[in-house]
Amino acid sequence: MPRYLITSALPYANGPLHIGHIAGAYLPADIYTRYLKLKGVEAIHICGTDEHGVAITIKADKEGKTPKEIVDYYHQNIKESFDGLKIFFDNFSRTSKPLHHKLSQEFFIRIYEKGYIYKREIEQLYCLNCQRFLPDRYVEGTCPYCGNEKARGDQCEQCGRWLEPKDLINPKCTICGGVPVVKTSYHYYFKLKEFEKPLKDWLSTKTYWKENVLNQALSWVRDGLQDRAITRDLSWGVPVPLEEAKGKVLYVWFDAPIGYISSTIEWAEKNGKPEEWKKYWLDTETKIIHFIGKDNIIFHTLIWPAMLMAHGDYNLPDNVPANEFLNLMGAKLSTSRNWAIWIPDLLKEYPADYIRYGLAHVIPETKDSDFSIEEFHTRINSELVNNFGNFVNRTLSFIKNYMGRVPKDIEGFKDMDLEIIKDIEELPGKVGSYLQNFEFRKALKEIMAFSQKGNQYFDYKRPWSTRKTDYKETERTLYLCASMVKALSIVIEPYLPDSAVRIRKMLGISDLSLSWEDAGNWKFSKEVAPENVEILYKKIENKPISVGPELSTNQEKKEEKPMEYIKFEEFKKLELKIGEIISVEDIPGADKLYKLQVNLGDKIVELVAGLKTTYTKEELIHKKVPVLVNLEPKKVRGITSNGMILACDLDGKPVLLTPEKDVPPGSPIK
Ligand code: MF3
Ligand code: ZN
Repeated sequence: MPRYLITSALPYANGPLHIGHIAGAYLPADIYTRYLKLKGVEAIHICGTDEHGVAITIKADKEGKTPKEIVDYYHQNIKESFDGLKIFFDNFSRTSKPLHHKLSQEFFIRIYEKGYIYKREIEQLYCLNCQRFLPDRYVEGTCPYCGNEKARGDQCEQCGRWLEPKDLINPKCTICGGVPVVKTSYHYYFKLKEFEKPLKDWLSTKTYWKENVLNQALSWVRDGLQDRAITRDLSWGVPVPLEEAKGKVLYVWFDAPIGYISSTIEWAEKNGKPEEWKKYWLDTETKIIHFIGKDNIIFHTLIWPAMLMAHGDYNLPDNVPANEFLNLMGAKLSTSRNWAIWIPDLLKEYPADYIRYGLAHVIPETKDSDFSIEEFHTRINSELVNNFGNFVNRTLSFIKNYMGRVPKDIEGFKDMDLEIIKDIEELPGKVGSYLQNFEFRKALKEIMAFSQKGNQYFDYKRPWSTRKTDYKETERTLYLCASMVKALSIVIEPYLPDSAVRIRKMLGISDLSLSWEDAGNWKFSKEVAPENVEILYKKIENKPISVGPELSTNQEKKEEKPMEYIKFEEFKKLELKIGEIISVEDIPGADKLYKLQVNLGDKIVELVAGLKTTYTKEELIHKKVPVLVNLEPKKVRGITSNGMILACDLDGKPVLLTPEKDVPPGSPIK
């Protein structure tokens, strides 16, 4: 068996993690590493936060913080999510550490000296309004390849291509929305073109890769590669290590993957074996596996390998099992549209294993997949509770309550017993070969089918009745059920590490360090005498999961108030009508208020409304809006306001609601 270095894409330290991140990279990587470790394979899982680039500086601008404040906050926030989910890393570093800066600079110098980096005068986009160059995400425009109108200056999310800002059609500054101009500057370019042939040859040996990954990579090489700028005009990042390049930093996608190496070095140092990282990066016996989402394919299958080829010392990736995207209830996850489920929120409601179980079933292995809250609840209740948990608990409680123990030497197995023995023996091999192949969903289904079979066996053998008529038979049944429980506790460990430990404790075998293959050994070397049997999982009521906006560093989420219900009778007292605004006047000295005349069908009323911050008079006139007409009249600035216009509150600013079809003024709202 070779040695494995598993990496997960370094998450940007610019926001919390959501379910898409976890299902797309970190959970599969964690499952895979845990599996290898159980197999006794030498394997480590390496990661850290990606703390440079405009993803960070844009967030900092938005929140009025320094980039350092942003990355410090989110490094911690992300780490807590991983810990909470029991996603284990042998090392979780940060690209802002001095070790990483130094290694990235050495990497740069090495390939610069080998002639793979050169300086070039270029035309760059510059925003006159903001008085700055616009690298990467500071510009948006139309992708010249696929027509996506929201392509960023560094990459098009729709077709995945690597872009340069000036490739964009109709570019716009993302800070002020202005149209940038072209200005000359200089940057350092990486000779990617020279690696076209070596990359093609290398990719041709990767016949065992996932089809989607290999095909994408090959099609890009066939389209032809271009040299690319690997420096930026920013004040945040790894400084370009050349005297002449003051003020420039390395492009984030140049330094970030080097983070895989620097984090491994840090791991070795922390363990007091500073040379140990070399086994992973220099010894060609090691297989490097990069777990990523599909938007990172181009970087991990072409650019990073080309960088490694240029450098010359380090191992190239053996595999890049990239996943597709996870959708949320049929729609694309989107931070800007508040369409996401954030891990810190989920962890407040559910134990890690529930979340891991729900997400493992929707890992987008071969195509985009979908997470629905309803399906998540159903899976927990009908699969984890009713199938898996039930089998474990009925087996262990039965032994504990009616038998006390099952002796270790049992004989006389026949019929369905023999079938079960065969199933146990085959289990680790079957599940293992799916896992080896990154087929995490199939492996989990196999495990659940095995547990289902356990339930069927238990029902078929009716131990509750044989215990009075044929105790030996009952012992045989429960011996094999216990053996299945033990097998389950091993093969489920990569998916549900907490459950695995709990089950083995209850079985009384927690002292044994079990390996993957032990799952297939159905014999116990000592009596089975369950201890402290407790319910493994509890059903979850249909409690809502909060779907919503990302938390900023400035606002702690408000503690949710318990819902205050009102009676329908009370609601009925509200008299709501559509009113048409027929006149709008300023109120002297009030900069937020207008005086309005509103036609309510049978009468015209005067009221005061705080609409001035969002609407001009012209915009309001003839608008039809919902009005609460029986609100007690109130004097505002000397004017009696006879009603209230209802509007949506967007960050403190009113946005009007209008009927979706034309309705006459006075139409009741119920
Ligand atoms: N931060 C990047 C993202 O979230 C991933 C970086 S992966 C690495 O898309 F290879 F650069 F480390
Ligand atoms: Zn601008």
